[in-house]
Amino acid sequence: MKGIVLAGGTGSRLHPLTRVTNKHLLPVHNQPMIYYPIQTLVNAGIRDILLVTGGQDAGDFLRLLSNGKDFGLQHINYTYQEGEGGIADALRLAQHFVDSEKVCVILGDNIIEGNICEAVQRFQQQQRGAHLLLKEVDDPERFGCPEIADGRILRIEEKPKQPKSRYAVTGIYFYDATIFEKISRLRPSWRGELEITDVNNMYIEEGTMTFSVLEGWWTDAGTFASLRRATNLVAESGANKLSSTAAPTREAD
Ligand code: G1P
Repeated sequence: MKGIVLAGGTGSRLHPLTRVTNKHLLPVHNQPMIYYPIQTLVNAGIRDILLVTGGQDAGDFLRLLSNGKDFGLQHINYTYQEGEGGIADALRLAQHFVDSEKVCVILGDNIIEGNICEAVQRFQQQQRGAHLLLKEVDDPERFGCPEIADGRILRIEEKPKQPKSRYAVTGIYFYDATIFEKISRLRPSWRGELEITDVNNMYIEEGTMTFSVLEGWWTDAGTFASLRRATNLVAESGANKLSSTAAPTREAD
């Protein structure tokens, strides 16, 4: 399975912190933000990784990460997103890299306490389609929010005014290679972006979407409140634990 880390965007919700640097290079406790999602992939055995970034600070990623030595990697792939087309637009740039394989996509500001080993194994068994990781949150209106019935996701709404569940769709997604054909059918949303939620709804309509609920804490870090939350959580309990209470096995449940 291949891995993609999305680290573009203007980081406008963090101005002026992001005026002269990319959001994903800001500190979260004792590491740059981008370290956490890369470690999440590496911990799950995903070592063939593409980083998609853009803007004026793209070269800083190369200086910071080089070939991935800090993660025990021998190589990291990089690509450059022109403009601000949204998550699905950034993913389009990864088509040559993914080819016909399965892929795990993680947003560069998503940080987790545990690991995604179980989800990776599960998606490896899944013949086709997609898999989402959900997390119960206090503020589902801030995220993609699923409507769930009879153990299935019926639909996902992006930042709904009246959320239909208490769950957020985390920024950790598993897709088969049909994602690129789906992206080619997308139209820009009201905010002018190709939305990942629209791609996810295509998989749901096709009947090939599965999901699981992530163990341990999860946070994004794209606003002042969530950046502070991320820093506090990492400082208090550590992130990217390989095996711990954060990720109990089914038997231990
Ligand atoms: C994005 C996605 C949203 C998802 C969130 C997770 O939101 O659009 O569906 O729940 O990431 O971090 P954004 O951070 O662009 O507001």
